[in-house]
Amino acid sequence: MRRGWPFTAVLALLPVLTLLAALAQSTFAQFTPEAALEHGRTLYTGTCASCHGLHGEGAGMPGLGIPRIDAGGTAPQLSDIDLTLLIRNGAGAMPGVGGTWSQEDVASVITLLRSWWTPERQAAGAGPQTQTQTKTP
Ligand code: HEC
Repeated sequence: MRRGWPFTAVLALLPVLTLLAALAQSTFAQFTPEAALEHGRTLYTGTCASCHGLHGEGAGMPGLGIPRIDAGGTAPQLSDIDLTLLIRNGAGAMPGVGGTWSQEDVASVITLLRSWWTPERQAAGAGPQTQTQTKTP
């Protein structure tokens, strides 16, 4: 029967489509913004907080010239590419993670950093200009 063809084809493809849908769901389930934030926080706390402080305030390891990376510093001006290269390769006294982190790891930490850098916080935070102004009466 000619008319039966498409129907049979769809029926035959159904298990494949179901499998693909399930795979897509399980893959994307790991990359919800909440999951990325949580993953980023775990990585940041273990790898970055000792130098930059738990919330990027730059409170760790005095003497190394460690910048704050919260909304009050210059870090929010960096692009995702800048941040990725910096986290991978390091800079100055900052060690890079090299190839030990997956791209998802790097992106998750950037997601965390960006969650600190809301426009509201940048406006309210002690930005570079604000810091200069308060220091120079
Ligand atoms: C050993 C201490 C140390 C560790 C660990 C470290 N950093 Fe840094 N970080 C620094 C220093 C020092 C600089 C300034 C680098 C330079 O000289 O340009 C810096 C710079 C930065 C900047 C740029 C700030 C700006 O205003 O341009 C960002 C963003 C940053 N670090 C994020 C991270 C992240 C994310 C991690 C964890 C993956 C991390 N750092 C781990 C010491 C550290």
